[in-house]
Amino acid sequence: MRAWQIVSDGGIDALQLNALETREPGPGEVRVRMRANAINYRDYMIITDTVARGVPLPRIPNSDGAGEVVAVGEGVRRVAVGDRVASCFFQQWPAGECSDEVMASALGGAREGVLAEEAILSAEGVVRIPEHLDFAEAATLPCAGLTAWRALVEVGRVKAGDTVLLLGTGGVSIFALQYATLFGARVIITSSSDAKLDRARALGAWQTINYRTTPDWERAVVELTGGRGADITVEVGGGGTLQRSIEATRVAGRIALIGVLTGGTIDPVAIMRKSITLQGIYVGSRRMFEEMNRAITASGLRPVIDRRFAFDEAPDAYRAMAQAGHFGKLVIGV
Ligand SMILES: NC(=O)c1ccc[n+]([C@@H]2O[C@H](COP(=O)([O-])OP(=O)(O)OC[C@H]3O[C@@H](n4cnc5c(N)ncnc54)[C@H](OP(=O)(O)O)[C@@H]3O)[C@@H](O)[C@H]2O)c1
Repeated sequence: MRAWQIVSDGGIDALQLNALETREPGPGEVRVRMRANAINYRDYMIITDTVARGVPLPRIPNSDGAGEVVAVGEGVRRVAVGDRVASCFFQQWPAGECSDEVMASALGGAREGVLAEEAILSAEGVVRIPEHLDFAEAATLPCAGLTAWRALVEVGRVKAGDTVLLLGTGGVSIFALQYATLFGARVIITSSSDAKLDRARALGAWQTINYRTTPDWERAVVELTGGRGADITVEVGGGGTLQRSIEATRVAGRIALIGVLTGGTIDPVAIMRKSITLQGIYVGSRRMFEEMNRAITASGLRPVIDRRFAFDEAPDAYRAMAQAGHFGKLVIGV
């Protein structure tokens, strides 16, 4: 079977498409014929910063894949041959709190990833995918979809009438826009692009702000909410945006701290003064994934895919992510 591999710290240009041996699944494992991958900013960072991150080489990249189970190992009961499944970002996080062990089971980093025609996964580390989704759509769920779900539902405890602030129009933020709309919340979303803001409005955003032309967008958020601020902020920007996000969030509001797109430092005093709950989150558990899938099935939600690349074009997908022209997700067919 063919798989893309990171073989050096040479970045996207050094990725190799290699023929690898496949093996039978061992006890508690399944073999999945991958049909699609979705890429995340994290996958791009791992490819471009491999050695500093201590990723063992060679390494198959990507955490997010969807396909069919083609073989099961001894003792596997959760799934059967023929099931349509997606990978869990963390192979060992069925439920409960995150832990060092959970983090050591991340695909496409600590463990081999899924940018391959076949992958051996833990039977505990796959979920059945909603029937109305194709493989490309399902491949967007494990990281971006689940992170946005956890930010809004588990951390944000979103409810109808809440105001949700989203930064940019990448994978996580567009999922969060779709979920917030499902829950009857109203969304304020920022972007560097007016054209992307138009697309966000078409998806249900209540208010939009161009953060290039309105660099003090936190003031705009406070004004739009009548001086109150957002109830929930999904923070994907990191050090460069967090201070403004704190200012844009209401007293006793909640911020889900997710992203590292920008660098910078913050003064924590406003977090205390405003009694804000700031919760760091790292994707989510299989239980959360299954709950999210129930909501996706019940609502008929379809993930937003900006571009689909062929398996042979995988490096172009990472280049597209670096250029940040996308709205929602970038997907690679397998
Ligand atoms: N903690 C976790 O579990 C977890 C999970 C998933 C992702 N993440 C992190 O979350 C971040 C987003 O991930 P993603 O996969 O959604 O990335 P992505 O699809 O590549 O999204 C990138 C988008 O972010 C927006 N952006 C960039 N700089 C910005 C800024 N200064 N202010 C506002 N928006 C800005 C841009 O939107 P516009 O083009 O509209 O301006 C850009 O297109 C990354 O740092 C990623 O590593 C963390």
